[in-house]
Amino acid sequence: MRFSTIAVAAAATVANAQRPTDTPICDYYTTALLKNNTAENQATLLTLLVNTVVIGNYTMPNVGVSVPGILKEGEVDGTKVALAPYFSGALASTNRNDKPTCVNFLDGGGAEPLMKNMAANDDKSNQHFLLTHLYQFFGTLLGCSKQGMAGFDAYDSAPSMYKVHKFMNLGNAEMTYFITQVGMAAASFGVAKEDIAIVAKALGDTFNMRCSAPVEVIKGKGPQPQAICIKSDCTEAKDAKCDVYAKAEAPAKCSGSTTSGAAMPTSTGGMKPTTTGSNPTSTAPPTGAGNVNGLGVAAVLAAAAAYVL
Ligand code: HEM
Ligand SMILES: *[C@@H]1O[C@H](CO)[C@@H](O)[C@H](O)[C@H]1NC(C)=O
Ligand SMILES: *[C@@H]1O[C@H](CO)[C@@H](O)[C@H](O)[C@H]1NC(C)=O
Repeated sequence: MRFSTIAVAAAATVANAQRPTDTPICDYYTTALLKNNTAENQATLLTLLVNTVVIGNYTMPNVGVSVPGILKEGEVDGTKVALAPYFSGALASTNRNDKPTCVNFLDGGGAEPLMKNMAANDDKSNQHFLLTHLYQFFGTLLGCSKQGMAGFDAYDSAPSMYKVHKFMNLGNAEMTYFITQVGMAAASFGVAKEDIAIVAKALGDTFNMRCSAPVEVIKGKGPQPQAICIKSDCTEAKDAKCDVYAKAEAPAKCSGSTTSGAAMPTSTGGMKPTTTGSNPTSTAPPTGAGNVNGLGVAAVLAAAAAYVL
């Protein structure tokens, strides 16, 4: 059965249902939308959610909520927002070995595989690693109880969201746009307002407060700086620990930026920094970039594909 059929059939019941407080959001909506609360289905739920956040609503028909997705330009309180350049390799905004680097994250087929409930066409692509990490990370945030079992790998990538995003210089408008897309994507699957509010608040408290004190998000990884909002217009956290954050600087543009292919090759001359103090370098993604269990990921993708194809 196509997922879209299930989603619509289940949506009406989801909207009125009250989630028991001891049932994680992930488990509750996996059961509501996909019936069997298995690791595979939890991975499928996160795939649907994250893919919708990235490319906008693609399951037809949905419950009537149109989601533009983070790759579309938007506006927040009169400020234009364009997140695509951070993903397309147009900006030296990726942290590789603590250096601002040009990396294209749309190198695994872009939107096309996402519309088929996959992360990417190429499981060695930057796109594959980014998307699978997002499924896993948001699965942890939403409390997926089966994560870590066969079918849905635990998140085992960078534990500090600050370090991942430190060269992006993201501010209020970008963060608000991103978090709003997460909420709209959830709404498009029939997630209740109360549950969307819980997720939005958690994202806001943990990642959207400038200088927030280090906290543990990934179990066993210890407290880490987590602020993604680091630009001066971000609200400062109450317990601000600005000394664990470096000065935020706008990323330089990458020369000859492209939306196809992998990271910018050094042979094209790399990029021209437009900011002082940063000397971005172009590199291929390090081999450690995707520390995921290949078999587990294959199982996730197979489970996702089985629902759509
Ligand atoms: C609440 C907000 C956000 C959360 C929870 C979040 C979470 C994440 C996670 C878990 C990763 C994967 C890290 C890894 O593979 O080790 C990631 C990567 C990334 N995020 Fe975010 N993100 C958020 C907001 C944003 C925003 C607003 C942008 C704006 C463009 C953005 C751009 C990126 C990019 C380009 C990457 C790839 C970085 C890399 O692989 O080094 N994120 N994010
Ligand atoms: C649900 O999943 C379990 C474990 O994979 C399986 O044994 C069971 O048959 C499934 N039930 C349905 C209704 O698909
Ligand atoms: C997205 O959702 C809107 C509102 O339900 C719908 O009109 C539109 O066709 C959907 N787009 C896709 C590509 O499914």
